[in-house]
Amino acid sequence: MLFHNNIYFNFAFSFNEYTKMELKVLKQEIDRIISSEYSNEDTLQKICDYLERTVSYYDWVGFYFKNGTKNELKLAQYTGEETEHTIIPFGKGICGQVAISNENFVVQDVSEQENYISCGWKVKSEIVIPIFVNEKNIGQIDIDSHTANIFTEKDELLLEYICKKIALILN
Ligand code: SME
Repeated sequence: MLFHNNIYFNFAFSFNEYTKMELKVLKQEIDRIISSEYSNEDTLQKICDYLERTVSYYDWVGFYFKNGTKNELKLAQYTGEETEHTIIPFGKGICGQVAISNENFVVQDVSEQENYISCGWKVKSEIVIPIFVNEKNIGQIDIDSHTANIFTEKDELLLEYICKKIALILN
């Protein structure tokens, strides 16, 4: 019932750390979006929109995927300010590094990163979580925040959960 009520969408979680309950609600809504039989493109767009709208410190949410056979990432769906970084070579920036390392990358202060591609002066921190299909790193979810030192292990857990669910529909 709650999830079919528009009032639900006006909630915004502004907590640095989600409570168990909030995490449960976020996961439930992600599950609902994924099981709604939208096209994969629409599913990813709705996930971006939902996360950006719901978690107050998620200011830009997007997906990058390996661009065919090229060793580069291509921007897919996103919510937030337009970016000129629609293609990112493997190894470049935070995203390009995750394409190679296959590991989560949490940057609490982007000004301390040398290998970083800026998407605007407002961005202070960033989190990138890889998506694996059949154990292959096929892309990632990338989130920028206008607040430094904001991401916690809870964000990693939530985003890992989302990436695993997405992997199932992209399989
Ligand atoms: N900051 C990223 C580039 C992509 S934007 O955040 C949208 C990076 O360093 O790879």
